[in-house]
Amino acid sequence: MRLVVAMTGATGAVLGIRLLEVLGQLGVETHLVLSEWARATIKIETDFSVQQVRDLATQAYSARDLAAAVSSGSFGTDGMVVCPCSMKTLSAIRIGFSDNLITRAADVTLKEHRKLVLVAREAPLSEIHLDNMHYLARAGAVIFPPTVAYYSRPRSVQEVTDHVVGRVVDQLGIEHSLINRWKGARHPSSTGEADLAIVRATK
Ligand SMILES: Cc1cc2nc3c(=O)[nH]c(=O)nc-3n(C[C@H](O)[C@H](O)[C@H](O)COP(=O)(O)O)c2cc1C
Repeated sequence: MRLVVAMTGATGAVLGIRLLEVLGQLGVETHLVLSEWARATIKIETDFSVQQVRDLATQAYSARDLAAAVSSGSFGTDGMVVCPCSMKTLSAIRIGFSDNLITRAADVTLKEHRKLVLVAREAPLSEIHLDNMHYLARAGAVIFPPTVAYYSRPRSVQEVTDHVVGRVVDQLGIEHSLINRWKGARHPSSTGEADLAIVRATK
């Protein structure tokens, strides 16, 4: 399997880094593009250097390199993930404004009817953000906000990160065992009360 992975300047650089680690462990060929502000957030938010992040990918490109392989639909891929995805990049993808390799590769992914997952991060969301997301969802993109799944009872940021990344990998149709999956909750029928017995999933 071959994927384009892009990281932009939304907060959550660790999500993109963990995604690259996991995809690498799963044997996925990754083609990485970092925006200028992704490079900044990597430095601000993590202990990784930009080069260490680039080294996690099979191949890394400059966002300015519009002649790179992933800028053409003739370069076959199984899809693209933008993780994290800023509102700026999301808006550019919405209108097909392909002035860098991230927005160009996303444009290509949509025109070739390949899977595009946008891990869109902002809070709160304005009407403009929501309108852009709605439009992109109708155009075939998966809008995947990196939110906390409290039902998994995370005990650390690492567990929150792994859950988000695991669910993103699910979207790509790749099997993995990164997360505790919800196994359901039992309603004690005798009382009818809302004291649910949670069936804790195990790894
Ligand atoms: C530390 C930091 C955190 C940011 N977090 C967000 C965010 O969560 N969402 C967002 O849309 N922009 C965020 N921004 C602003 C983007 O980096 C900015 O809009 C930038 O132009 C995005 O460009 P890019 O999409 O090419 O990376 C953040 C900026 C910094 C410095």
